[in-house]
Amino acid sequence: MAVRPAGVDGVYTDGSWLYTRNLTPGRSVYGESLHREGDVEYRRWDANRSKLAAYLKRGGRVWPFAPTSAVLYLGAASGTTVSHVSDVCAQGNVLAVEIAPRPFRDLVRLAESRANVVPFLGDAARPEAYRARTRAVDVVYQDVAQRDQETIFLRNLDLLRSGGTAFLLLKARSTDVAADPAALYRDAIDRLRRADVSILDTRRLDPFAADHAAIVVRKG
Ligand SMILES: C[S@@+](CC[C@H](N)C(=O)[O-])C[C@H]1O[C@@H](n2cnc3c(N)ncnc32)[C@H](O)[C@@H]1O
Repeated sequence: MAVRPAGVDGVYTDGSWLYTRNLTPGRSVYGESLHREGDVEYRRWDANRSKLAAYLKRGGRVWPFAPTSAVLYLGAASGTTVSHVSDVCAQGNVLAVEIAPRPFRDLVRLAESRANVVPFLGDAARPEAYRARTRAVDVVYQDVAQRDQETIFLRNLDLLRSGGTAFLLLKARSTDVAADPAALYRDAIDRLRRADVSILDTRRLDPFAADHAAIVVRKG
């Protein structure tokens, strides 16, 4: 089936799968399939492997990612989702922060073939360590699966430009393994509402990512 625009910048669909346009044709990043149409190559974007793809599959349509966007990505791991953000923001840049040395090595390899990805080995709870590496960003995307994930998120909003958009990928069971996820999402939203942000969207990501929700906010 032919690949066509999916309705948000830089994302395509064949009616079933999502795709991004491959910035490094011929290269697959995590074993995803490549799909050529004419002289354009697309990479399949698996919603079971990437919560940002899951957000779109669950109907999310707040989409600040544009070709020239500057993105601060927290919890980059080996770069699965980073690679798709890099495809979408092809003329922009992605500062990708990861705390664990092992996945960071893969991230460095990814950045060797993608000039718009800047890997940073560090703790997202300490944004002062990477503040100098970027201008105020258009988008913050956080997926750290940590107990203090909202505190980390609020701290990083200092690096977001006024009017910019931030995604918090919230893992309910990181906060309290026994608590009801819906109650935890409500608490997180209440806490964000008390900060200088407006809530644009909240969306559960089950069944693609169990016990996860995306909370999307605008600053200022
Ligand atoms: C669920 S994985 C991220 C998956 C990735 N976002 C993707 O979609 O390809 C969470 C990652 O956050 C990292 N992490 C956890 N705490 C962190 C922190 N304080 N600062 C930076 N990275 C952190 C973990 O090492 C792990 O690689």
